[in-house]
Amino acid sequence: MQTVYTRAELSAVLAAWRREDRTVALVPTMGHLHQGHLALVARARRHADRVVASIFVNPLQFDRAEDLAAYPRSLKADARALEEGGVDLLFSPEEAEIYPRGRAGVTRVEVPGLSAELEDAHRPGHFAGVATVVCKLFCMVRPNLAVFGEKDYQQLLIVRRMTEDLDLGVEILAEPTVREPDGLAMSSRNSYLDEADRARAPALYAALEACVERLRAGETAFAAMERTARAAVAAGGLRLDYVSIRRQADLGLPEPGDRALVVLGAAWCGPARLIDNIPVYLPASG
Ligand code: PAF
Repeated sequence: MQTVYTRAELSAVLAAWRREDRTVALVPTMGHLHQGHLALVARARRHADRVVASIFVNPLQFDRAEDLAAYPRSLKADARALEEGGVDLLFSPEEAEIYPRGRAGVTRVEVPGLSAELEDAHRPGHFAGVATVVCKLFCMVRPNLAVFGEKDYQQLLIVRRMTEDLDLGVEILAEPTVREPDGLAMSSRNSYLDEADRARAPALYAALEACVERLRAGETAFAAMERTARAAVAAGGLRLDYVSIRRQADLGLPEPGDRALVVLGAAWCGPARLIDNIPVYLPASG
């Protein structure tokens, strides 16, 4: 695996691949990698001749300076894991490489409809930061396809919409969430959890899962199910941000009869903000 730090080096490698007519997949990350990221890499491997992974802790998507400063960084171990996972090229730029004129006045990409609530209600501006950096990475790498985790479900939809709206010509693949044996979704921020927090953390997934079971059993009283799930998250010792049942396609509020749903939730567990979701497909009734 080759590692490059600048756009010029990146372009040189990509130009050589293009001359050989290779297809290219991009796996964008912020580093501190876990099995979930490696599943994205494995998926990319199966669908393209060459895999580029990026590691860039994007300051534009952090709403709190302390969160950005505390975000775990482990470039050496990450590079080893990516190499073992079969990545061909690691792009690990400094901030000045991505935002050469500074990030404050940079042109931003907004995806208004899908950003209006859920995560963005709790992290204003977060998705404009994500969409902007993903758009820039797509323009720098010009991949045939890119792989994103379903764990950040709203992010996945926003990236898809942005890619369509701006005609970026990148195929977006979604990879299911990878979980610990007790159900906790893998996340770089799980490293913030001490032993007691870690023991409490699966309460979010358990509450979402209980909601999914009721949906599968045919219940359609969405608000009542959400209320129960919220209470379960709080009873599990987490500080709730939201639990919401939405339509998979556009995160709109579901109507009875909608069959492709997703139960999303976010809650604080000690110093870590957990986010999770479970997509559910209901059988046709009648
Ligand atoms: O999901 C992430 O790790 C980040 O939001 C992403 C997509 C790499 C953009 O910085």
